[in-house]
Amino acid sequence: MATKTQQDRQALERTMKAIIARSKKSNQPQLIGLEESAVQSKSISVEIPERIAELVYDIPAQRRLDELVLSEEIVSEVQEFIFEYSNTALLRSHSIEPRHTVLLKGPPGNGKTSLAEVFATELSLPLLSIRYDAIIDSYLGETASRLKRLMDFAEQIPCVLFFDEFDAVGKERSDVQETGEIKRVVSSLLVQMDRLPSHTIVVCATNHPELLDRAVWRRFELKLEINPPDHFQLVKWFGNFKKSMGKASVGITADDFAKYMEGETMAGVESFILDVRRKIILSKGKLSASEAIKSVLGRLKKTIITNNPEESQSHGNSTSNRANRTRSGSKKTN
Ligand SMILES: Nc1ncnc2c1ncn2[C@@H]1O[C@H](COP(=O)(O)OP(=O)(O)OP(=O)(O)O)[C@@H](O)[C@H]1O
Ligand SMILES: [Mg+2]
Repeated sequence: MATKTQQDRQALERTMKAIIARSKKSNQPQLIGLEESAVQSKSISVEIPERIAELVYDIPAQRRLDELVLSEEIVSEVQEFIFEYSNTALLRSHSIEPRHTVLLKGPPGNGKTSLAEVFATELSLPLLSIRYDAIIDSYLGETASRLKRLMDFAEQIPCVLFFDEFDAVGKERSDVQETGEIKRVVSSLLVQMDRLPSHTIVVCATNHPELLDRAVWRRFELKLEINPPDHFQLVKWFGNFKKSMGKASVGITADDFAKYMEGETMAGVESFILDVRRKIILSKGKLSASEAIKSVLGRLKKTIITNNPEESQSHGNSTSNRANRTRSGSKKTN
């Protein structure tokens, strides 16, 4: 009977062959998933040996960068990162590696997890999300050995290794002080992370960056702060929504919508639209889009909505200026 190491190796060989075959088929150079990446949108999956499969979720990534509404700065940072990775061969020919470690921080519901998915989709890489419950053991030594097992695998497969809600790591153990545990697991991870080749992208997301010490921060090559949407992002988001509604009148300007949603998370904005859609569907044609929007907005905030586009427009402009002065949006952090 084959040992676990042999099984791992066999599974790895199968995966590599499949990826190389795909790469040849598309007449691309054999640097798997790199040069061909930015054009594909299908989610990529690898065959994962059982011993590794229990440590990660293999998430089907399909979200594209242009589906998210982010600040221009974040979009351009992400595009540059993707461009670098997609041009690994060129960089390597000059003995330079692309960046491959990303830290995403920011309050809940504004796209950290979604952005990890975007990296995988845009680069046609499998997205492996870490299962802390399976990795963290009451013995730090065992935790470190599981992490090592995972990294041994990740080191050979181009993939996005995703540590979501990084700050949750410590909560897997109740007998040790939470912060201390996070730090120990994090330093164990960093030791392992340092030896990963650049074809393995590590993405960590956290709502509580204060739990990570400076040494951790410094290790990540790209650090992005994903904040709630500002006025302009909300306007853009509403524009996309309006397009998706076809010819139906929405009865509110983008500026007014942005004003209503100011301070909301993107997840909140998304749930607003789902509420509207539900209302329209369940009314079976009795409720127009604009009536549904008005009703949901009315429920959200008891403020009067103007249906007069001209009035809304002038009102919207002043809102937009105010928003411009007061909101900061998402940014790259140092
Ligand atoms: N920038 C965005 N553009 C469009 N939709 C977004 C954006 N951010 C979040 N969403 C939507 O909100 C939902 C929650 O987003 P996501 O899970 O990525 O947030 P998060 O920052 O990871 O939150 P948490 O910190 O709670 O894990 C997603 O379903 C996504 O569709
Ligand atoms: Mg998340």
